Amino acid sequence: MLESSRVILAPLDGEDISDEHIQWFNDPATFLYLGTKFGQTKSTVKAYVQSIKPPNLICKIVVKPDHRYVGNIALQHFDSVHRRMELGIVVGVVDARGKGIGKQACSLIIKYAFEHLNMHKITAGTVAENISMDKAFRDLGFKVEGRLLEHWYVEGKYHDVYRYGLLGPDFKPVL
Ligand SMILES: CC(C)(COP(=O)(O)OP(=O)(O)OC[C@H]1O[C@@H](n2cnc3c(N)ncnc32)[C@H](O)[C@@H]1OP(=O)(O)O)[C@@H](O)C(=O)NCCC(=O)NCCS
Repeated sequence: MLESSRVILAPLDGEDISDEHIQWFNDPATFLYLGTKFGQTKSTVKAYVQSIKPPNLICKIVVKPDHRYVGNIALQHFDSVHRRMELGIVVGVVDARGKGIGKQACSLIIKYAFEHLNMHKITAGTVAENISMDKAFRDLGFKVEGRLLEHWYVEGKYHDVYRYGLLGPDFKPVL
């Protein structure tokens, strides 16, 4: 378990997947910027969770003090040569968004990646219009390394995507 002032990250098990959890991924406001789209079921989400093997990891984001499970966060694409992993996050509970939870959860898992997995770099990406994600990444020290033009199709048009990278010395934790 990883813990900061407002957030606990605990490993996500296939058995943790509830109907509410499935609804997160079938909500257009949530899947707008995610790789997955409408049509998720317990079995598709469970298969995805079970496909993530250590040292890659996927965790539940649990908010203190009431221990509400509000989203998931993952580190994937572990690269043992170049010491990189890719960060992904969803705060599925709509009323938990915009309160600093996403940024703090990212900070906590990045700290783990640098201090325990000996990562050299964390990578991430999001649609340029995803203001809260972009702000969280920049606040944590990520640099925009590229803008992929018309890379993401949502709501009838193509959107640009930012690719980000974070090196250890640039990391500004929010814990
Ligand atoms: C993107 C997401 C993970 C961000 O998490 P969050 O908990 O909502 O974000 P935070 O509250 O930590 O916000 C980060 C910053 O953005 C700011 N922010 C949020 N919405 C904003 C807006 N519309 N305009 C300006 N700033 C905004 C917040 O104030 C915060 O800055 P601060 O710490 O200086 O106050 C979450 O909203 C989410 O899961 N959305 C749906 C799925 C998704 O987009 N996942 C990411 C795919 S890459």
